Amino acid sequence: MKIYRAEDYNSMSRRAANILSAQVILKPDSVLGLATGSTPVGMYRQLVNWYEKGDIDFSQVHTVNLDEYLGLAPDHDQSYRYFMQQNLFDHINVRPENTNVPNGLASDPEAECRRYNEVIAGLGGIDLQVLGMGHNGHIGFNEPEEAFELETHVVDLTENTIQANARFFASKDEVPRRAITMGIKAIMQARHILVVVSGEDKAEIVRRAFAGPVTPLVPASILQMHPHLSLVGDEAALSLL
Ligand code: F6R
Repeated sequence: MKIYRAEDYNSMSRRAANILSAQVILKPDSVLGLATGSTPVGMYRQLVNWYEKGDIDFSQVHTVNLDEYLGLAPDHDQSYRYFMQQNLFDHINVRPENTNVPNGLASDPEAECRRYNEVIAGLGGIDLQVLGMGHNGHIGFNEPEEAFELETHVVDLTENTIQANARFFASKDEVPRRAITMGIKAIMQARHILVVVSGEDKAEIVRRAFAGPVTPLVPASILQMHPHLSLVGDEAALSLL
């Protein structure tokens, strides 16, 4: 594991964008595994900035996102497809048909999971997987005690997650109850994993995930076993490591 300590959120974002852009420059047809959430937003902003300056070309890149809510249309402002369009895809020259996010409106979610696994396999696997990490150590929607050996699957969101998400919806009843997520097995098969963490509130879970025992109670702890892991964080998030 290689740890990159950055001073603050902006330099953490720049460092993470450096690693991702190096991947694309060295292998223009890279398959990038992408995450939503607040942490990678600054990294995406930096990548858009470098794209606008002509420093990166995404025309041959393929992307596969980690997860999506079931029941939300792609143009719903809380869907992860919408997030990716707003924060990255609409601002760079990635081909729309080369971007993949699980279909939140799939009538047969299990079949959608199988299709998604085939998409990843058909692309030859993921070159670089970007991950954020939840306060309980979740990665994607893989919550504590989830089996490590799963590929893409349907998850029931915990009551905690539903509560936490309620603020983004008109009422709690509108919050999706289920999601599709890449599993830990699929994540661990990526050739390089880039974890981004920021803020003091992540310090304790960063310590448990990267300096504690490998256990399904802290899903991200399995990342310690990955042969090519880059952890990029600001001082605050890495302060207990
Ligand atoms: C996002 C995802 C989540 C987030 C995690 C951290 O696609 O799957 O696991 O990475 O919840 O979110 P932030 O970055 O908002 O702290």
